[in-house]
Amino acid sequence: MKYLLFQPEELEELVQFLAANLDEGYKPEVFLKIQSQWPDGFAIARRGGTIVGAACGALLPGEKLRVLILVLAPEVQRQGHGRKLLEMLMAAGRKRGCSRVTLEAMVNSKAIEFYRHLGFSSVDLLPCYYQDGGDAVVMERPV
Ligand SMILES: CC(C)(COP(=O)(O)OP(=O)(O)OC[C@H]1O[C@@H](n2cnc3c(N)ncnc32)[C@H](O)[C@@H]1OP(=O)(O)O)[C@@H](O)C(=O)NCCC(=O)NCCS
Repeated sequence: MKYLLFQPEELEELVQFLAANLDEGYKPEVFLKIQSQWPDGFAIARRGGTIVGAACGALLPGEKLRVLILVLAPEVQRQGHGRKLLEMLMAAGRKRGCSRVTLEAMVNSKAIEFYRHLGFSSVDLLPCYYQDGGDAVVMERPV
């Protein structure tokens, strides 16, 4: 597995990967904006030349890093790659002075167990946060 910073030339491939692996839809330009605002906070994982994972974040006021997306293809889940991509983001956040990391995860999803396992606590609930009307749990931990 190779962990790399996302490059704008990879946009089409990234969009296809995310469309296949996430329920939420995003306009492609969003990813270029996220990348341009903080290039070090946008990582991908490649196996055999194919994108199999992605993680991106944004720097918030108040020394906070917000994880916007973290997703691994089903065939590479539970092999430590999610943890690795998250650690890359948090290391980049630390370099920019972040002291906390925050994110949203779908209520009752496996992702919540993953984040709990990595030391995140639930701090808030966002009703009807997702496009399908699902609620989100806000989770945080020190960076
Ligand atoms: C959630 C997700 C990002 C986790 O990534 P992953 O690569 O599968 O997880 P890792 O292998 O890095 O797991 C790291 C640790 O968390 C644990 N873990 C992972 N998934 C878990 C789960 N569902 N329940 C409990 N623990 C879990 C692992 O056992 C591992 O612990 P260990 O290192 O102590 O053995 C990934 O499964 C995924 O992309 N899921 C679908 C999309 C999604 O839900 N994204 C998050 C949206 S907010």
